[in-house]
Amino acid sequence: MAEPRVSSIDGKLAEEFACPCHVEEVKEKMAAFAKSHASAGRRVVLITSGGTKVPLESRTVRFLDNFSSGRRGASSAEYFLDSGYAVIFLHRHRSLYPYTRMFSSVNMLDVLQFTGEDTSSGCQVVVNQQLLPNIAKVLKRYREVKDGQLLLPIEFSTLSEYLHLLKAAAQALSTIGSKAMFYLAAAVSDFYIPASEMPEHKIQSSNGPLQLSMKMVPKILSPLVKDWAPQAFVISFKLETDASILLDKARRALDTYRHQAVVANVLDSRRGHVVVVTCESQAELTLTEEDVKNNVEIEERIVSNLTSAHSQFVTQHLG
Ligand code: PMT
Repeated sequence: MAEPRVSSIDGKLAEEFACPCHVEEVKEKMAAFAKSHASAGRRVVLITSGGTKVPLESRTVRFLDNFSSGRRGASSAEYFLDSGYAVIFLHRHRSLYPYTRMFSSVNMLDVLQFTGEDTSSGCQVVVNQQLLPNIAKVLKRYREVKDGQLLLPIEFSTLSEYLHLLKAAAQALSTIGSKAMFYLAAAVSDFYIPASEMPEHKIQSSNGPLQLSMKMVPKILSPLVKDWAPQAFVISFKLETDASILLDKARRALDTYRHQAVVANVLDSRRGHVVVVTCESQAELTLTEEDVKNNVEIEERIVSNLTSAHSQFVTQHLG
């Protein structure tokens, strides 16, 4: 029997990126989640969200990070849940989270109050709903999602954790074929220092100015599409600060990795405008002033566009 193909990225992952010890356990959890939802007739989306942390020392004091808040991933998760998907939410520890994201700027102690005079430990505490007018609606939806076990949260912090957990997720979801969607909204570092070249202890400022040499992180999209989940519907994101190169880079990514779509966005306008690029089409999604006034979010439009495309994809693959 032929040996399963081991891509060079698999080798690199094993050698140069420390594997979190719980990855096998998480993989089993994700596989069971995917299987049970697929047999109940649901599609499953794996959302990646937030930035990755790249350590500079193995006993880490300092690291490189990036701007991503995780808002794109967290709000998209809610719209996928509303569209009937089960969601695996692979997110950066402490980045924005579905539903709680709406209260991330609230100081909890400012919105809670005692019901009676007695402020000792036995008394009751309630939320001041004038300060959080939509809390009951959000809590209701959160409970429905939780009770239905529709959301499986998985956390990462470092680049290594992200890479190993994404690989595990891809393999876990490969069992449900075209019913799986990958929505890769995380802002993943392109550079890292291999474990073998990293100083163990805190870098000393007494040694003078710091010069870093970093290696390129392997593009994980390539084995994901080719080897780990070849039947899945895969969406990558492309972020640029220079709008003039964005669409070209999005098309190049589609050419290189041969996946289904790229959501292209520019840093400063990402909350109100994106372009969904596929081999055959280019859809501009833009919020109007009216939309903004009505609290419409761009993620609602992105998810609506992609869930329709996924339906067609599933039909083609089953038909
Ligand atoms: O979190 P927010 O503040 O709401 O911001 C949302 C966002 C701007 C982070 C999001 O919309 C977004 O654009 N995410 C992708 C950011 C990006 O720069 O991607 P990239 O150009 O580095 O990578 C392109 C794609 O390749 C990504 O889908 C990524 O998952 C994938 N990739 C990246 C690096 C790597 N080593 N392997 C990969 O496969």
